[in-house]
Amino acid sequence: MEKEFSGKVAFITGAAHGQGRATALAFARQGAQVAAFDIAKPLPYPGYALGDEDALRSLQRECELVGSGCLSFAGDVRDDDAIQRAVDGTLAEFGRIDVLFNNAGICAYGRAHELTEVEWDTMLDINLKGAWLVARRIIPWMIGQQSGVIINNSSVAGMRGMNRLSHYAAAKWGLIGLTKSLALELAPYHIRAVSIHPTGVNTPMNDGLAALEGKTTQEIAEASAGNLLPVPWIEPEDVAQAVLYLSSDKARFITGSQFVIDAGLLTR
Ligand SMILES: NC(=O)c1ccc[n+]([C@@H]2O[C@H](COP(=O)([O-])OP(=O)(O)OC[C@H]3O[C@@H](n4cnc5c(N)ncnc54)[C@H](O)[C@@H]3O)[C@@H](O)[C@H]2O)c1
Repeated sequence: MEKEFSGKVAFITGAAHGQGRATALAFARQGAQVAAFDIAKPLPYPGYALGDEDALRSLQRECELVGSGCLSFAGDVRDDDAIQRAVDGTLAEFGRIDVLFNNAGICAYGRAHELTEVEWDTMLDINLKGAWLVARRIIPWMIGQQSGVIINNSSVAGMRGMNRLSHYAAAKWGLIGLTKSLALELAPYHIRAVSIHPTGVNTPMNDGLAALEGKTTQEIAEASAGNLLPVPWIEPEDVAQAVLYLSSDKARFITGSQFVIDAGLLTR
């Protein structure tokens, strides 16, 4: 039986861990070929464990087990040469790119007046500029193809203020401006752009943040406890299913908007 994304190609950043990985696997299960891009090495900031080469390799194997091709690229979303190599490699192997999921990101706590310029710049460069850097290398191809979907992973922090997360929230609000502008520029070419806004997600990011705070992930979740529905967080698979829906023809008239997956948090 034909799967929903048979013949399609999804380019996913931050694919080694968490939401990127779950989304890569969800696309693969639905027949898409996957290009998995991840820094795959530690960074001094934020200081918790990011993806690694083993995680990229195991993702590749898991995609192959469900019958889909997966290319993996170790690279930083701040590195234009690495992005170009990955895009060229994807097009050479798979021949097209239908979906870009700009998902790579970091998080770190610090009150606005105590952050260093390096911390501020690193956050904005990865979480906001990185999405633009990747998009601008893929958009020309999508324009030629006269189709495509760009999904930017923002956060509930992109729709509210967040204590000790000013740089994170600023980057995530910035993704809304980027998304809406891309939607305007690209609609004539039948390309859609949407931002998604998850509440806390059960991923290595939250484990890492908890460890840096000297707390368990459970304690961090209980302290933030903003969800209306009585759950401490949502799962990466919940985000993956939203991304698949938004990438599909079922969402063909959804562009420029914010898709909230917040267990009711923003209703408070
Ligand atoms: N976890 C949450 O509670 C939550 C909630 C809302 C939104 N988000 C956002 O979702 C996205 C994914 O987060 P996650 O929870 O899966 O985190 P995660 O840390 O589990 O996974 C993030 C992945 O991005 C990669 N990455 C980090 N910096 C990179 C860079 N410079 N270049 C390339 N790859 C890089 C990491 O190696 C890692 O594999 C992020 O943008 C995050 O801000 C997270």
